[in-house]
Amino acid sequence: MILTVTPNPSLDRTYEVPALDRGEVVRATGERMDPGGKGVNVSRAVAAAGVRTLAVLPLGGAPGALVARLLHEQGIEVSPVPVSGRTRSNIAVAEPDGTLTKINAPGPELTPAESESLLDAVGAHSAHADWIACCGSLPRGLAPSWYAELVARCHAAGARIALDTSGPALLAALAERPDVVKPNAEELAGAVGRPLATVGDAVEAAEELRARGARAVLASLGADGQLLVDAGGTHFASARVDVVRSNVGAGDSSLAGFLIAGGSGPRALASAVAHGAAAVQLPGSAMPTPADLSPDAVTGTTGIPLDRPLTEPA
Ligand SMILES: Nc1ncnc2c1ncn2[C@@H]1O[C@H](COP(=O)(O)OP(=O)(O)OP(=O)(O)O)[C@@H](O)[C@H]1O
Ligand SMILES: [Mg+2]
Repeated sequence: MILTVTPNPSLDRTYEVPALDRGEVVRATGERMDPGGKGVNVSRAVAAAGVRTLAVLPLGGAPGALVARLLHEQGIEVSPVPVSGRTRSNIAVAEPDGTLTKINAPGPELTPAESESLLDAVGAHSAHADWIACCGSLPRGLAPSWYAELVARCHAAGARIALDTSGPALLAALAERPDVVKPNAEELAGAVGRPLATVGDAVEAAEELRARGARAVLASLGADGQLLVDAGGTHFASARVDVVRSNVGAGDSSLAGFLIAGGSGPRALASAVAHGAAAVQLPGSAMPTPADLSPDAVTGTTGIPLDRPLTEPA
C-alpha cells in the first residue's frame, strides 16, 4: 500500500471556455471538478496502476467533503483530518488552443492542534504502508520543519519516505534523511542555489542533496528524462514522446511509477520515466493505466550524458 500525504489539498474546478477575455463575462462550454494536490495526484496515479493507496489529508467545509467523495469514487481510500478552515478551491480556465490559466487559492491556515492531528493520522497508518509519499507545499500554519518532523516520526515507525516538495520545507527535511526526494529541475536548482544548464549540473546538484542527507534523489528533468542518484550510483533514463498533450501531474505520475516498482534502482527509475512519458500524452491531469504505458520506449543508461544541455535549463 502506498500512503500519500497532501498537507494543502484542493478542489480543482476546470472551466472550458472559447476564449479568456479579461473583464468580460465568459461563458463556459464545459466544467469539471477533480480532487487536487500533489499527494492526491500520486494516489490517483497509484490507483490507476491498480495498486492500493490511502490518502491522508486535512479536509474542511463543503469543498473538503466533495474532495473526499471524489477520491472515494476513484477507488482511493481516504483518511481525512477534519480542520476548521475550508479546503481551497482552485480554478483552471482551459482554452481550445491548450492554454491553461490557473488561479490557486492559499488554502486554510491549520491550527497547531490540526498540524499535530495530521502527523498523528500519518503515524496511525504508517505501519501498513510500503511507502509514504509526502507531496506539495505546506499550508499556512505548518512550520517549514513540518516535513522534517514527519520524516523523523515515520522513520521511527520503520516506514520509508518519499518527499516531493521544494524550498525551505525540502531543505529542512534533508537532515532527517528521507529515503527519496523528487525535485524537478527548477526545484533542484532552487535547493542548491545555482542554475542548472546541463545534465551534469543536475547530477552535481543531486549529489549535493545526498551529501545534505537525502538517501536517494530522483530528479525529473522534463523532456530530458530523469536521473536517479543513490548509494548504488547514478542512472539516467528517458523516453521518446511524439506528442505532449499535457504535462500537468507528470512528475506526480512519475513518483507513483517509481514507488510501485519498489522505489529503488534502475527498474524503478524506468517505471518512473514510463509513467511520466505516458502521463504527458494524456489530456489534463489524467493518470496512466498499465495499458497506457510503453516500457519499450524507455532508454536507460549508467553512461550519463553529462555535457548534454537541458532542453529547459533551470
Ligand atoms: N515534454 C516532455 N516530453 C517527454 N517526457 C516528459 C515531458 N515532460 C515531462 N516528461 C516526463 O515526465 C517526467 C516528470 O516531468 P517533470 O520533470 O516536468 O515533473 P514535475 O515538474 O515535477 O511535474 P508536476 O507538475 O507533476 O510536479 C519527466 O521526467 C519525463 O519522464
Ligand atoms: Mg513536481
